[in-house]
Amino acid sequence: MDFKLTEEHLMIRDAARDFAKSELLEGVIERDDKQEFPAAQIKKMGELGFLGMMASPQYGGGGMDTVAYVLAMEEISKIDASASVVMSVNNSLVCWGLDTYANDAQKEKYLTKLTTGEKLGAFCLSEPEAGSDATSQKTTAIDKGDHYILNGTKNWITNGNSADYYLVIAQTDREKKHHGINAFIVEKGWAGFEIGVKENKLGIRGSDTHSLHFNDVKVPKENRIGEDGFGFKFAMKTLSGGRIGIAAQALGIAAGAYELALEYSKVRKAFGTEICNHQAIAFKLADMHTSITAARHLVMKAAWDKDNGGDYDLSGAMAKLYASKVAMDVSVEAVQVHGGNGYVKDYHVERLMRDAKITQIYEGTSEIQKIVISRSILKK
Ligand code: CAA
Repeated sequence: MDFKLTEEHLMIRDAARDFAKSELLEGVIERDDKQEFPAAQIKKMGELGFLGMMASPQYGGGGMDTVAYVLAMEEISKIDASASVVMSVNNSLVCWGLDTYANDAQKEKYLTKLTTGEKLGAFCLSEPEAGSDATSQKTTAIDKGDHYILNGTKNWITNGNSADYYLVIAQTDREKKHHGINAFIVEKGWAGFEIGVKENKLGIRGSDTHSLHFNDVKVPKENRIGEDGFGFKFAMKTLSGGRIGIAAQALGIAAGAYELALEYSKVRKAFGTEICNHQAIAFKLADMHTSITAARHLVMKAAWDKDNGGDYDLSGAMAKLYASKVAMDVSVEAVQVHGGNGYVKDYHVERLMRDAKITQIYEGTSEIQKIVISRSILKK
């Protein structure tokens, strides 16, 4: 078994690391504080190719594999998990979804702009009463011949206001349950489409999360993705890949918190020596390093499965379940290693601890991942 990364993978990882340190670190505390979207930084990420990494070069994408994508996600997330969720949604939910399932005309019109960051995408599935239970959504799209009429409300939408193009999942025939669901490309500014309230969040505060309202929005039929009734499978398959990106985000948050704790423990003195010389701290570092390494193996395996025809519904769910727990545990311990300094904003670890929590919630809660995993192992 070869655990070595290729030269190209290492270059991409290093480029992401450099970008995060040089462009994202400055101002990350203030953006979190003010809930300020990193617009200039996201624009640069688009120019550098970080927003459409896996999409086809024909449509402006990087044509890279999922391994390259998770390496970049980890590095960006170490420094700024708000920027990395924007990156994750645009790459794995929007660009990958369109690249894989949209028709040529849709790709030409929409994907080419999303891969370069000229436009930003959002993925709209969750509703006030349907977050985990994706078939129970109430948003409807009624077939009117050459167009659909879209009505309903979506909640907790990442890039809610900053996006230009929205992939909206809606019921077209309630009787058919999940076979009566479709996915549509909706543009910001269309009549009847309103951006709702912005959420005041615990973490990833630099990303903008909104509710969205659709009131008799006319959606041309050519904006439906795939055959009639394909929407639920589109959402599930896209989310399966998206979960690998969020697992990488969780891994990055954990690794970022660990690296800060490690450095701090080498300079902070107590009882006459650097605190890393106390077993109480050294053992914490050992536990953090071990769990992060295990999480990285799961994330890489899931990415490899996606690139090589493996069952990434299963390995992606396992990676997200475990890496998000590691992000939570490690970031809490990193605050502990920092003591009082860990509880104030300047040292970054309190932000990473707050950011970690969302990785156990979005793109399927930890409980949803356990449903996916247990169904898969029981089926076998
Ligand atoms: N790939 C392809 N098809 C799939 C699939 C997958 N991964 N998972 C399910 N399906 C198909 C099934 O094969 C089945 O199709 P058939 O009837 O043709 O056989 C159909 O979908 C229904 O499957 P289930 O009966 O398993 O569906 P379910 O209603 O029991 O739901 C679930 C399963 C796993 C719980 C699913 O509802 C789920 O994943 N829920 C969580 C949704 C979620 O992740 N929400 C997060 C919102 S997005 C977000 O957070 C983005 C952001 O902004 C950051």
